[in-house]
Amino acid sequence: MRAKNVQIQTKPNYGIDAPGLVRFFFTAGAVALAIFLVVLFSSLWGQIPKIVVGTLLGIAATYLLGMGCFMLYGSKVMKLKDRDNLLNLVPWSGRELVLDVGCGRGLMLVGAAKRLTTGKAIGIDLWQQHDQANNSAAAALSNAATEGVTERVEVKTADMRQLPFSENYFDVVLSSWAVHNIEAETDRKTALDEIVRVLKPNGMVVLSDIIYQAEYAHYFERHGMTNVQRHNNAIRDLVLKAVTFGSFAPSAVSACKSA
Ligand SMILES: C[S@@+](CC[C@H](N)C(=O)[O-])C[C@H]1O[C@@H](n2cnc3c(N)ncnc32)[C@H](O)[C@@H]1O
Repeated sequence: MRAKNVQIQTKPNYGIDAPGLVRFFFTAGAVALAIFLVVLFSSLWGQIPKIVVGTLLGIAATYLLGMGCFMLYGSKVMKLKDRDNLLNLVPWSGRELVLDVGCGRGLMLVGAAKRLTTGKAIGIDLWQQHDQANNSAAAALSNAATEGVTERVEVKTADMRQLPFSENYFDVVLSSWAVHNIEAETDRKTALDEIVRVLKPNGMVVLSDIIYQAEYAHYFERHGMTNVQRHNNAIRDLVLKAVTFGSFAPSAVSACKSA
């Protein structure tokens, strides 16, 4: 799909990931806070039960509301900062053909297009609303228009487990917070098979995600990719894994396809 009749906005909007989970954290946090206040101001409770139940509810409310805020921060701030650092890993010539796997509203797609001169960035996605709020081909193209890169961007509806491109097609394959959405490990492996298949010899993949980075790095090493590197901040990783019970620690893996 190319940009036609795309509504121009003044600022790009790269959306909110896992909107159902964000809603859950805010709703559950608000309920816990409301019960906490009821317990706190109730005259029906004795002092000790009030302190015990109040403390537990206070901790639950703080955690749930904190997680909701943190998820918004991840979507709106952390990911944008990480995008530039990740794109800096690629030695751009400006002529590359780039694929963004699970492009959503176009965060990496548009970021890559801004580094191209004669090249082209193509994004594919299934536009699953539970993975990112209001993601669509039109939303990605609208962000491309806002950032002035319409001419260098294209989007297609496709499943990352069956990429509609011939082998050795792309110079660079990017993906941000998308592959983990595939639940079965065998299906994630199929997506990685596809990424490697469509990458040209000497081409580079930069795969950023919130979990499974070790799985991706092992896959690339086992499949003859060279220069396999993990890009993570050990302290941030440790803290995020601890507070999210291992479910959220964004970092990336990069690798090159052998010539
Ligand atoms: C959390 S969003 C991230 C979007 C974008 N890469 C970003 O960083 O803003 C994950 C995206 O992966 C897409 N997705 C999930 N499973 C997919 C699949 N099997 N094939 C293609 N896209 C998929 C979802 O529709 C969603 O847009």
